[in-house]
Amino acid sequence: MNDTDRTRRRLLLAGLATAFGTAVAAGTSGCATAGGAASPARTRAGGGAGLTKAIPSSGEQVPVIGLGTNRFGVDTAEQKAPLREVLKRLGDLGRRVVDTAPGYGRSEEVIGELLAELGNRDRLFLATKITTTDGDVAAARAMLAQSLARLRTHRLDLLQVHSLRGVKTLLPLLREEKAAGRIRYYGVTTSSDEQYEALIDVMSREPLDFVQVDYSLGNRGAGDRILPLAREKKIAVLVNLPLGGRRASLMARVGARPVPDVAREFDATTWPQVFLKYVVSHPAVTCAIPGSTRLEHSNDNQAAASGRLPTPDQRRRLEAFWDALPETPAEG
Ligand SMILES: NC(=O)c1ccc[n+]([C@@H]2O[C@H](COP(=O)([O-])OP(=O)(O)OC[C@H]3O[C@@H](n4cnc5c(N)ncnc54)[C@H](OP(=O)(O)O)[C@@H]3O)[C@@H](O)[C@H]2O)c1
Repeated sequence: MNDTDRTRRRLLLAGLATAFGTAVAAGTSGCATAGGAASPARTRAGGGAGLTKAIPSSGEQVPVIGLGTNRFGVDTAEQKAPLREVLKRLGDLGRRVVDTAPGYGRSEEVIGELLAELGNRDRLFLATKITTTDGDVAAARAMLAQSLARLRTHRLDLLQVHSLRGVKTLLPLLREEKAAGRIRYYGVTTSSDEQYEALIDVMSREPLDFVQVDYSLGNRGAGDRILPLAREKKIAVLVNLPLGGRRASLMARVGARPVPDVAREFDATTWPQVFLKYVVSHPAVTCAIPGSTRLEHSNDNQAAASGRLPTPDQRRRLEAFWDALPETPAEG
C-alpha cells in the first residue's frame, strides 16, 4: 500500500466512523478505564479500528467487537448478499475478528468465497475450530486442511478446539501447527457451564493463547473463576453468546424498554451496545463475537467498539438493573 492509498484508507475509515454516528476520537479519553489499569487486555483507542485490546501472548491489538458466523452456512446468492455486506463493512472499518467453525454447516466455505470476492482476507483475523475423537490425529489434520481450503487461506489467525472435543490429542497438534506457521494462535472453546471445570483444568495446565467462553449481562458465570484465571494466566478471551444467543436473547428480555440512564455515561444508545460494552469492559475480555447476518445489526454492534466503556461502578449498576428486571419483556 502506498502513501496515497494509506491516506485514502484513513479518510475512508474516518468517514465510516462519522457515518456510524460513533465517536472514535472520544474513545481516546474514555476507553482506558475499562476494568482497571492492571488488565492484561488493556483497552486502547485503535483509530479507525475503534477500541482495541492486546492479545496477552503477543501484545498484538485486536478490535474489541468481532463477528460470530454460526448462521453463515447458507446456499443461495440471495442469502449470501447480506453476509457479503457484513464482511465488507467489517474489513472497511478495520474490525477484524471473524469466528467460524467446520461445525457451522457451510459457514467456512461461504466466508472463503465472500472474502475471495471482496479481496479483504488480509484485513481480517480469521478464527476457526477443530475437533477430533481422542487419539485420531490423522482426522484432525484432515479437518484442518479442509478448513484452510474452505476459507481459501494458507494461514489461520486462530485455531480453537471446539467445545473441548479431543483436547488432549489436539493441543500437541496445535502447538506443532503454530511452530510450522500455519496458525498464529491456538486455544479452546466452550459455551456451556457444564464444561467450566474441564476448561479451568486445561487453562491451569496448558499454555494457551486464547479461550472462548459464553458470558453476558444475563449469564455471568464465567466471571466467577474463568475470567480471573484468564487474567492470571495471560490468556486472551473471546466471548460467545454475548447477546444471549438465539435461545436466551437478552434483547427479547428487555423488549421495548428504553436503555437505562447509565448507558449514556458510556456512550451506548441501543440495548445491543449496552450488552456488548458490558462484556468487553470486563478486564479479562479481549473481544466479543456477536453473531449477526444483517448489516443493520452488525453496524449497531460495531458501534459498541467506540466511545467509553462502563467503569466497574457502572457495570455494577447495570447488573443491579438487569437483576431487577421482570422475566417477561416490557410491552412496546
Ligand atoms: N462452543 C463454541 O465454540 C460456540 C458456541 C456458540 C457460539 N459460538 C460463536 O459465538 C458466536 C456468537 O454466538 P451466537 O451468534 O449464537 O449468539 P449472540 O451473538 O449472543 O446472538 C446472536 C443473535 O442475536 C441477533 N443479533 C445480533 N446483533 C443484533 C442486534 N444489534 N440487534 C438485534 N439482534 C441482534 C442475531 O440475529 P441476526 O443474525 O438477525 O443479526 C442472532 O439471532 C457464534 O456466531 C459463534 O461464532 C461458539
